[in-house]
Amino acid sequence: MPDFDVVLDRRGSTKWDKYRDTDVLPMWIADMDFNPPTAVIDQIQSYVATQMFGYADPPSELIYVVLNYLEETYAWQVNADDLLFIPGVVSGLNVACRGLVAPGETLLTATPIYYPFLDVPKNMDRELIRLPVDMDRDYRYPVYELEAAITPDSRMLLLCNPFNPVGRVLTPSELGDIVSLCLEHDLLICSDEIHCQLIFDDRQHIPVAKVDSRIEENLVTLMGPGKTYNMAGIGGGVAIIKNPAMREKFAEASEGIMGSINVIAYQAMLAAYRDGEPWRMELIRYLQNNRDYLAQRIRKIPGISMNPVEATYLAWLDVRPLALEDPLAFFESAGVGLSDGAQFAGPGFMRLNFACPRVILTEACDRIERAVS
Ligand SMILES: Cc1ncc(COP(=O)(O)O)c(C=O)c1O
Repeated sequence: MPDFDVVLDRRGSTKWDKYRDTDVLPMWIADMDFNPPTAVIDQIQSYVATQMFGYADPPSELIYVVLNYLEETYAWQVNADDLLFIPGVVSGLNVACRGLVAPGETLLTATPIYYPFLDVPKNMDRELIRLPVDMDRDYRYPVYELEAAITPDSRMLLLCNPFNPVGRVLTPSELGDIVSLCLEHDLLICSDEIHCQLIFDDRQHIPVAKVDSRIEENLVTLMGPGKTYNMAGIGGGVAIIKNPAMREKFAEASEGIMGSINVIAYQAMLAAYRDGEPWRMELIRYLQNNRDYLAQRIRKIPGISMNPVEATYLAWLDVRPLALEDPLAFFESAGVGLSDGAQFAGPGFMRLNFACPRVILTEACDRIERAVS
């Protein structure tokens, strides 16, 4: 079993190299300071020994394992034809927009949001309507704002389920409302569910597809093991699209811009989904404890509060009462490298990645506490 307390040398990763040769603890980008499961490493090593690095179709065992995961975990029946393997979820978001939203049509998303969502419409020269979440109340999904914002030009809702950066698992009632509105207005949903295996306190992830089977005709679901098994640098994910016409448009839109999938990524995905579960369960336990520790430390620091983290390993800190001119620089000068909420369309907030050994988290909390006091 993994020992998540061990401090690893992670120099060479973007996360650590940003603050190379400084005394800043990197707690920003969504990478964990843990090794991936041994099963993933073993699978990659034995594949490398075959020396087969040519283009390749997805291994049939990978297709089987993914379909089995969807069926066993969510009682979601998907066919092999419904799966399109992709190099990463962010490329999937961009391709969905490119292939399924025509010029002149608009996209909608709730903010704050994982920042590449904000770029997707820009990249494709489409307009994005932002629906602000009420961060002074309960962070519920802005369903009324969604309803009010829909026009005849609205084409696609970009959904982040679970919701990064606010760390929420959307409830059945929120998802029900969102799906009803989209059905009523013939709005497509592109649902990024990359954090679906990072759920705490025995909550359940509900794929949008399971909310109402009718939405499957209008749905792209994106998943991938990169976050959960800490292998984002390898790449790899899957788009699940049941509607054949939409699938064809998605595939056409990927031509020429989305290269073939890395053969190592196929192997890593296979091992993660097939063999990673015991490791993942240990990870969840460790992350939950880190989250609780962090929440308890933050509670004692005046001027900062933390939204309860139900999913992801990212805490959303409200630092507005500190009235900092440059919050990122303030925390960096205290020795902690966070993500600035402004990047996610949430100025006045900071995102803290707590997927690290407890000693690092403790030191980060000490530094934040000292700086604020
Ligand atoms: C919501 C969300 N989607 C997608 C990604 C990145 O996915 P990929 O590396 O597969 O493009 C992240 C990474 O943090 C994320 O938080």
